[in-house]
Amino acid sequence: MDEPTHIPVLVTEVLTHLVERPEQKEMQARGASFIDGTVGQGGHAEAILRALPGCRILGFDRDSANLDIARRRLERFDAAAILVQDSYANVTQHARANGFEQVDGILLDLGFSSAHIDDPERGFSFAHEGPLDMRYDRTGDLTAEAILNGWSVEDLSRIFRVYGEEAAALQIAKVVYAARKKVRITTTTQFADLVETVVRRRGKTHPATKVFQALRIAVNDELGQFERVLPDLVDLLRPGGRLAIISFHSLEDRIAKHYFSERNGETLNVITKRPVGPSDEEVHSNPRSRSAKLRVAEKI
Ligand SMILES: C[S@@+](CC[C@H](N)C(=O)[O-])C[C@H]1O[C@@H](n2cnc3c(N)ncnc32)[C@H](O)[C@@H]1O
Repeated sequence: MDEPTHIPVLVTEVLTHLVERPEQKEMQARGASFIDGTVGQGGHAEAILRALPGCRILGFDRDSANLDIARRRLERFDAAAILVQDSYANVTQHARANGFEQVDGILLDLGFSSAHIDDPERGFSFAHEGPLDMRYDRTGDLTAEAILNGWSVEDLSRIFRVYGEEAAALQIAKVVYAARKKVRITTTTQFADLVETVVRRRGKTHPATKVFQALRIAVNDELGQFERVLPDLVDLLRPGGRLAIISFHSLEDRIAKHYFSERNGETLNVITKRPVGPSDEEVHSNPRSRSAKLRVAEKI
């Protein structure tokens, strides 16, 4: 049986903002409800269910393997945890079907989990040879391999530039185009090696870091889905309910920040004036938490 491999980040901070509030007793008395849009292996969901006995949670993930782990982890909470294998993009329809229309809190913990990056077969890591997959939902049609071997130089260059903020985007796209004419690009290391012919190693960061991020975002339409779901999430909150977003890179954080500041004083009150990061202890014990940023807003 697979055990959880992903260490949830900023758990204390998420609980402080979503659960340990002045109205906690009242929330407990009426059986508060939460939505976890990226339940993953269920780390945050478990923490919330433990912190507020009697509450309910509706969790989503696109990845069936992670969801299986979450399901086993949350079994002991019985019907208080409902898990759905779908994108959070379809949150409204599932929330309606399950009676989660006026919730007390919503969490999005964006991006990939340790299970993705640690398993070469999933294709997220340039450190180990694996197929160029990168789908969270393995039933989806679009893979990183399809993008690299099928998209035009212009489109490749655009995603490397916009989703990877890669300065050498056009050069890399051209190298990919020339290489794939000779032989199909099928593995993570084959692509990473190509990138290394254009981008020099600097410090500890691998030259392919940015373009791998770009491909992952493109394969899963990550930024598009995130940006589009925000108004739906706000609609699902009861007045006083809170939306918590954990992001891992500046593109995601920028979307959260802009949305919150646009709505501040209208439909939302921004609770975190500056994003909350991990403590030194957390970074020490879980280095993958180092780039995490939490933003929280409350529905008016
Ligand atoms: C950082 S992990 C979440 C970890 C989780 N909070 C935990 O404690 O285990 C992000 C998860 O979001 C999932 N994911 C990414 N995009 C998604 C989407 N649009 N809808 C639902 N889940 C998504 C990934 O498959 C991954 O399992």
